[in-house]
Amino acid sequence: MPNNELGDFQTPDELATACLRVLSLPREARVLEPTCGHGSFLKAAATLSPRSERLGIEIQEAHALQAATWGRVRVGNIFHMSLADDLNWQSGSELFVIGNPPWVTSAELNRMDSSNLPRKENFKGAKGLDAVLGSANFDVCEYIIMKVLSELQGQPFTLGMLCKTQVARNVMEYAASAKWPVRASAIYRIDAKKWFDAGVDACWFTVVIKTDSTRSYVTAVHDDVFNPGMAPTSRFGVVDGLMVSDVDRYTAVREADGRCPYEWRSGLKHDASSVFELVASPAPMTQKGVELDVESDYLFPLLKSTDVFRGRHRDLSKWVIVPQRSFGEETSSLKHRAPKMWSYLTANAELLDGRKSSIYRNRPRFSVFGHGDYTYAPYKVAVSGLHKTPIFRLVAPIDGKPVVLDDTCYFLPFDDATEALVVAAALNSPECVGLIESLVFWDSKRPLTKKLLARIDLDRLPFDRSDVLKAAADNAELLGLPFDYIHAEDVVERFNRTRELVNTLF
Ligand SMILES: C[S@@+](CC[C@H](N)C(=O)[O-])C[C@H]1O[C@@H](n2cnc3c(N)ncnc32)[C@H](O)[C@@H]1O
Repeated sequence: MPNNELGDFQTPDELATACLRVLSLPREARVLEPTCGHGSFLKAAATLSPRSERLGIEIQEAHALQAATWGRVRVGNIFHMSLADDLNWQSGSELFVIGNPPWVTSAELNRMDSSNLPRKENFKGAKGLDAVLGSANFDVCEYIIMKVLSELQGQPFTLGMLCKTQVARNVMEYAASAKWPVRASAIYRIDAKKWFDAGVDACWFTVVIKTDSTRSYVTAVHDDVFNPGMAPTSRFGVVDGLMVSDVDRYTAVREADGRCPYEWRSGLKHDASSVFELVASPAPMTQKGVELDVESDYLFPLLKSTDVFRGRHRDLSKWVIVPQRSFGEETSSLKHRAPKMWSYLTANAELLDGRKSSIYRNRPRFSVFGHGDYTYAPYKVAVSGLHKTPIFRLVAPIDGKPVVLDDTCYFLPFDDATEALVVAAALNSPECVGLIESLVFWDSKRPLTKKLLARIDLDRLPFDRSDVLKAAADNAELLGLPFDYIHAEDVVERFNRTRELVNTLF
């Protein structure tokens, strides 16, 4: 099997030793390194705890032979072993399960036609593993960590694994939901670019399992595995059943973690920007520079997440063609209703008909996705899903037309400018930013999600009423929008009233 199928990136000795130092191995210890490769961690264990009993598991014979210098190594496939039953330990000392499992996802392996994946039927009923396998795209490293925790949790032990930070969070979220006996956990950040040439956020993840009833699902975040004594910079964890990124910050704003009274929407998706997106010159022009004459009813100003983030939400730089009013609407009558657009789309049919996403399969020809009546609301409060600072913009019509946002944005639609301005100001308030920052994991590919935004309960957000009204009025002036102060007070009052009502009920 080629290297990338096996996640075959051996850990440098210097890093393996720094990771193991964090665990303070005792003189007598049992050390297991599943997927041990050349045995970097077995080697570090041999140096730090020479009397330890060391076991490795590795699928590649040549690697296993090399690792055997540092302990007993079994050649085999981790997916076919029971870690609780299949290993014959010679001592009964404290157990440490350590290493660096492959950082490869099931989707990547499927693309490579790889067979190096656990088989679903093997783990039916194994708590946790079925949950990982149920997901369309799981991380093999996450699977292996879950396997270790799931199979060995009947005994006390310490786990230490290098993994993506997202994997550590997923494992802790599951451990909390399944009430696994976790006594303590921590992550120590590593520079994945430097050590593995990998552009991901990664860490040394430690979990202490004790079989008594004291449990904790709050994970300390340390900035550097080479400086483990430094106090943690934050703690993430599960509070009241929900994952938060900063437990201490969250405590101050947790009352507003609930349900947003408005429905957040994602922007438009079409998977063919070279056809649907047109340069605004300001007349619509194809990306090849040809001016395009299509029926204007189907053309809308387009904003992308970077436009929203950078404050270019008043500029007309792109048009987008939206051939349907809502998802699934028939398109064949466009031939007569909008002949110029139809002939343009037909001229590009090869590209449009070849779009890969299953969302377009068995749908009307030239369909787009992620739109409905809300797409045509004149006012929107929009935020980028990709950037690392939450900035909410009031998006108003451009050129007299409602603005369409692309699928890298989230937004709330409004018919009423004043209400939209107040909501935008409340979302930009320090209290709201505090809530978002305590929930969000900025290292995720898409840090702000619809799910996270839906947790902002404006009715319970303890924002300063007069600050929000002032910010809304100032923004209205800046954007040249109508602002009805009395109505704005009513909107704020409505939030406050609901807040008071909720407070008396609970
Ligand atoms: C990221 S490397 C890490 C090796 C070693 N733990 C280290 O830290 O240097 C992953 C190792 O897992 C091994 N591996 C991949 N799939 C495996 C499987 N199904 N069973 C056992 N080992 C496997 C690969 O051969 C590779 O040596």
